[in-house]
Amino acid sequence: MEESSDPTAGRISERVRAIEPQQIRVLFDLAAEAEAGSDRDLVHMELGEPDFDTPEHVVEAASEAARAGRTNYTPNAGIPELRGAIADRHAEGSEQSVDSSTERERPDAPGPERERLVDPDTEVVVTTGGVEAIYLALLAAADPGEEVVVPTPAWPNPISGARLAGADPVEVPMPAERGFEPDPDRIVDAIGPDTAVVTLTSPSNPTGRVVSPDAVQRVVAAAADHDAYVLADEVYRELTYGETPPRVADLADPGEREWVLSVGSVSKTYAMTGWRVGWLVGPADVCGQVTKIRESTTSCVNTPAQYAALAALTGPQAPVQEMKAAFGERREYVLDRIDAIPGVSCPRPEGTFYVFVDVSALDGPSMDVAKRLLADYDLVAAPGSAFGAGGEGYLRFSFANSPDRLEAGFDRFEAMVRAELDEG
Ligand SMILES: Cc1ncc(COP(=O)(O)O)c(C=O)c1O
Repeated sequence: MEESSDPTAGRISERVRAIEPQQIRVLFDLAAEAEAGSDRDLVHMELGEPDFDTPEHVVEAASEAARAGRTNYTPNAGIPELRGAIADRHAEGSEQSVDSSTERERPDAPGPERERLVDPDTEVVVTTGGVEAIYLALLAAADPGEEVVVPTPAWPNPISGARLAGADPVEVPMPAERGFEPDPDRIVDAIGPDTAVVTLTSPSNPTGRVVSPDAVQRVVAAAADHDAYVLADEVYRELTYGETPPRVADLADPGEREWVLSVGSVSKTYAMTGWRVGWLVGPADVCGQVTKIRESTTSCVNTPAQYAALAALTGPQAPVQEMKAAFGERREYVLDRIDAIPGVSCPRPEGTFYVFVDVSALDGPSMDVAKRLLADYDLVAAPGSAFGAGGEGYLRFSFANSPDRLEAGFDRFEAMVRAELDEG
């Protein structure tokens, strides 16, 4: 039989057909096509990963684990040492904000004062990156036909993950006129009897905005009131430029904490995107179900990579501070450059390594603007339309790139804007 080129032909499930390829990937592929067999020198600012190397001691830990024969399957929920390190990381900074009624005695806690707020045996699952934690949490928490509330602009995975789970994503645009500051009124208004999950990504990819403590508390309270989970994506939490914000779980009232599912990852914090280690922390019933369904996905995370993540969490933290300092300097440089370009602007990111730039003064949808930037100026940026409702009219630039490349990239962006707005 002749193969059909129609992607909707054949017995492809509706759930899968409902997923569109991510627009960031579309740009990435166009850039790869432009580079193939040519000597074009593209500046890449579409990428969502640090440009630093994984710290040496982390690489060493993985290598040692593999040499020592730690190459077998692990428990589905991950090696106990890593789950313990994740539980400890979750307890850091939590002490003052957690009511004593939620503290639990654990005889194996590391140190007389520290009591683990998270039980590593039942409340932590190690996953294949934050990506898998988000998808499996949605799969475990949302039934087909139920709603997943996603404040936007947002990294697209919670939206596609909800669709894959058969649930309906409800995109709630945050106010562009207030720099996309997460607005609890809008989020709370979107929560109703059909809501299964509300996502809160703080800091946000693509806007870099942090959800304020007051907004977190109002959203968690409204979600708990409707027996809905708050899926708190905190993979960029440690890449914030002011004080590290409190965790969503720590801001929740003790009685509402059971409705918070926290997602973390070593990807961004430790420059470990390719190692694929993340986690879900949440109530034992959800983590138990997620552990069960991991049997049907990946069984466990790559074993040496789990030892690498353990070394990252428990070893020296200086590489993180160095990377953060570099991102901080680049953020200032990028904000100055954007400030000096007429007709464009962006909210000041509080965390992450992205700026989300308003290019609505330029002609056409953001995908067209991104394509022109690539075709005529050799600069690759992500179109705002990739990030759901409210993202149109913007471009996301990643400043996870060397100072030289950032300078070249913003020279090109400035040249395009000036040419198109006739500000030459
Ligand atoms: C907001 C957000 N959450 C989660 C992830 C997942 O990252 P990973 O699967 O590498 O942990 C990403 C990756 O880009 C992200 O931007």
